[in-house]
Amino acid sequence: MLEVSGLTKVFGGLTAVKDLTFTLQRGEILSIIGPNGAGKSTCFKLISSFMVPTSGTVRFNGQDITGIGPHAVARKGIVRTFQENTAFQDMTVREAVLLGYQKDCKASLAGMILRSPQARRDDREAGAHADRVLDLLGMSSHAGTLAAGLPHGLLRNLGIAVALAARPQLILLDEPFAGLNSDETKRGVELIRKIRDEGITPILVEHDMAAVMSVSERIVVVNFGSKIAEGTPAEIQRNDKVIEAYLGSEDEEIGL
Ligand SMILES: Nc1ncnc2c1ncn2[C@@H]1O[C@H](COP(=O)(O)OP(=O)(O)O)[C@@H](O)[C@H]1O
Ligand SMILES: [Mg+2]
Repeated sequence: MLEVSGLTKVFGGLTAVKDLTFTLQRGEILSIIGPNGAGKSTCFKLISSFMVPTSGTVRFNGQDITGIGPHAVARKGIVRTFQENTAFQDMTVREAVLLGYQKDCKASLAGMILRSPQARRDDREAGAHADRVLDLLGMSSHAGTLAAGLPHGLLRNLGIAVALAARPQLILLDEPFAGLNSDETKRGVELIRKIRDEGITPILVEHDMAAVMSVSERIVVVNFGSKIAEGTPAEIQRNDKVIEAYLGSEDEEIGL
């Protein structure tokens, strides 16, 4: 589904992502891990075309999508979530999710203004889809809540809901469990599996090693922008290069 090949991003004198190559099969749960500053978020920005790589390519469903821009990438079926979603503060949860769906409407602008049958069908479809997404995330009871009033864990879920509303094939989740307590993280892991079972392929960047090891089917480890290991959670936990990379950094542990 996704083929990242020789991906490189240089910022001035710093190579944030260096000759990174990996592939992803549809329906598999892949995580990218590595110490702080390893280049994980930059990798996501390159895949989602929020940044143009210095060199290398990103192919999606066999098509070269390198640097085509975030909107074009979203239309192809790749979405990403953001660390903070302050953009939805003034909306209710359901309104924010409906916004995520808009991209896909079939009615013309004139049709929307004149309330054509197609526009009314679109509204009903959008509403039904928004309600399904909220149900999937266990957020139906918060549909009418203002996003600004949500606790941190639910605000993170809302970011995922808005991304899912666009009906992507691939969703890039950058630290979905950051700031969540252990119960919320467990529900988060379940949610990742549900998303995959809905036919949407998730890729995670995540620091919570227990969660990563339990949810991932395959893990790519990066350090200083380069891939240092790739394998199943069991393989990664006993990989010498990985242990060394994590022991070398102060604020992380791999939970061995
Ligand atoms: N826009 C940017 N301009 C300059 N340097 C950047 C930029 N974005 C990230 N970096 C640097 O690139 C490196 C990788 O950053 P990042 O991809 O955010 O790492 P990670 O997500 O793995 O913590 C870091 O050293 C960071 O400071
Ligand atoms: Mg990051």
